[in-house]
Amino acid sequence: MFKILITEPIPEKPISFLEEIGEVTVAPKGTYDTEEALISHIHAYDALLCMLSTPVTRNVLEAGKKLKIVANFAVGYDNIDIKAAQELNIKTANTPDVLTEACGDYAMGLLLALSRKLKEAENYLREGKFSGWEPLGFLGMELRDRTLGIIGMGRIGQAFAHRARAFGMNIIYLNRNRIEQTTEKELNAEFVEDLKELVSRSDVLSLNCPLTEETHHLIDEEILELMPNHALLVNISRGAVIDEEALAEALHDQKIAGAALDVFENEPQVHPKLLTAPNTLLLPHIASATYKTRDAIGMLAAEAIEGVLKGKPDSDIPNLIRR
Ligand code: GLV
Repeated sequence: MFKILITEPIPEKPISFLEEIGEVTVAPKGTYDTEEALISHIHAYDALLCMLSTPVTRNVLEAGKKLKIVANFAVGYDNIDIKAAQELNIKTANTPDVLTEACGDYAMGLLLALSRKLKEAENYLREGKFSGWEPLGFLGMELRDRTLGIIGMGRIGQAFAHRARAFGMNIIYLNRNRIEQTTEKELNAEFVEDLKELVSRSDVLSLNCPLTEETHHLIDEEILELMPNHALLVNISRGAVIDEEALAEALHDQKIAGAALDVFENEPQVHPKLLTAPNTLLLPHIASATYKTRDAIGMLAAEAIEGVLKGKPDSDIPNLIRR
């Protein structure tokens, strides 16, 4: 009987699905947040279904003597040492596509909330300060005709771009490769190869790229300096794409007008200077958090585990990570 470890509670549907093919252990949240905890238990398991917070390092993979697959309950997989997994002949999987629309909606929601100062305005009302309609209260940025600069024009970047187009925004983007001409036309999107140019032309800058060596602290002090003072920053990718200390300084010094952050470099910790920064929305990493999407993420991860454990060819498991 195959043994499958799920590192914390997930929706019921994928758990029941996996129970059909093996003995499933669902660990309480927090059990496997450290490399040491995984190293001491992973030897017993054939498959690991883990979270983006699970550190699947080379040491963990080497300790997984029976391990055949690691399926991440996430599209981003910077928590897994993919190179080590490949060397050790352990397959890896992520969950692309199924969360694209939820993330597109969420990025648009963050931008609307940020540009119209909804959180600050609501706090003002709750604090009993609302004394009637004011012509000068909570003026924000109107989105029509503003430029949205997207770093990382993959599925989620494009989903955000589609929504922003509907709000009348102009789209410019930076990506490893230029996207298909038809999509570019549909979005009326302009490919800008130079990061500095993209940043200085963006009224709103959105991060939708994976965290890699190249994107680690991509948004640093020098880049933040290039953002216009009225510009807003939205990040639903990974916290470490931003140098948080530099961002907090830029927000406090009003070098930029606000930020909406769903992700942080050292989750669950949030940089203390961000906690006190003006016009800053701080959210607990919930871009894909809809019932439908979380079920689908779980099923995609579970199906990859089923495929590998049953010996299906890689070509029949679309979400295996191939690099
Ligand atoms: C969430 O951040 C994910 O990568 O799916």
